[in-house]
Amino acid sequence: MIAKSSIKWSAKAWNATAARVAVVIVMAVQSLGAGWTQEPAQPRIDEEFAKQEKIYRRRDAGSYTANRGLSNYAEVLPTGFCDALGRLGSSDRWLDIGAGEGQAILDYYAPRGDAAPEKCGGSGPRARVVAISIEDRRTDKWKQQAASLGDDRIRYLSGKRLSQYSPEELGKFQLITDVYGGFTYTENLSRFIEKALSLLEIGGAVYTVLPAVHLEDGTDKLGAWYKTELVDAASRPVKVCSWLKQTSCTKITCESKTDWDEPTQLIEIRKVCSGVSVPRTNLVEYIAGAPPGRRFQLEP
Ligand SMILES: C[S@@+](CC[C@H](N)C(=O)[O-])C[C@H]1O[C@@H](n2cnc3c(N)ncnc32)[C@H](O)[C@@H]1O
Repeated sequence: MIAKSSIKWSAKAWNATAARVAVVIVMAVQSLGAGWTQEPAQPRIDEEFAKQEKIYRRRDAGSYTANRGLSNYAEVLPTGFCDALGRLGSSDRWLDIGAGEGQAILDYYAPRGDAAPEKCGGSGPRARVVAISIEDRRTDKWKQQAASLGDDRIRYLSGKRLSQYSPEELGKFQLITDVYGGFTYTENLSRFIEKALSLLEIGGAVYTVLPAVHLEDGTDKLGAWYKTELVDAASRPVKVCSWLKQTSCTKITCESKTDWDEPTQLIEIRKVCSGVSVPRTNLVEYIAGAPPGRRFQLEP
């Protein structure tokens, strides 16, 4: 239900015809002997990056959904998310990458007695939370709650992408979420995952969701339209979960949502040891949008 209402980009923000033409042109260029290993068409991709920056800054109706609450997070994240949140202690830390307005965090810290937070995250002590977003979407409600909680219980960082923070700036976390945030928007998929895992304590997990992808269990409906595509060095399609499962020191669990508006993969990435290494992805196509269309090629 949430997925249907929250993923509105397909009709509005994405001109399907233009996109198909763009992909065909790219494929035609690449088939002229150069193949996927050729550098991306950088000037065109740069134009798309510039368009994408404008999308982040928009505040009107054409902007994206940035105010999902904790109950929305519970619906779109993998099954274990609410229990994992409920197990956190008061000195543990939760990082929400691409937090938008941070509504899920406000719900988590809402006064006890409100039914919603107790359904997800339990009724025990609250962990410290860090929200990061490229653009500052803090509301008055956020500012008031942060001030009343004090002691940096909830922090909001903006103006940079995840990859631009040093380990010292962010510290380590027991739990990381990403709901239609950096994982859905980044132009460097492998760097993004490696960075998130570097901030995670061993035993902790990243809970995330990726819309419009080839599903791990192959249940995608005929005619589905994809926003994130991966191919191997020989240009054969690779599923996101198959790629992630090649990451060392992790345990990956994938849930496939066939009946949502777009085939959607819910993903839990558990860090089990410290030697994390993510197989590299190179960007070969990027079309600005909310979310963008992206095509990556795995390094041999
Ligand atoms: C569609 S909004 C989702 C907001 C929120 N998670 C929600 O569901 O309401 C996308 C958010 O991801 C952020 N974002 C995108 N790429 C990011 C990155 N690489 N690092 C940090 N934030 C990023 C945007 O700035 C924005 O806050």
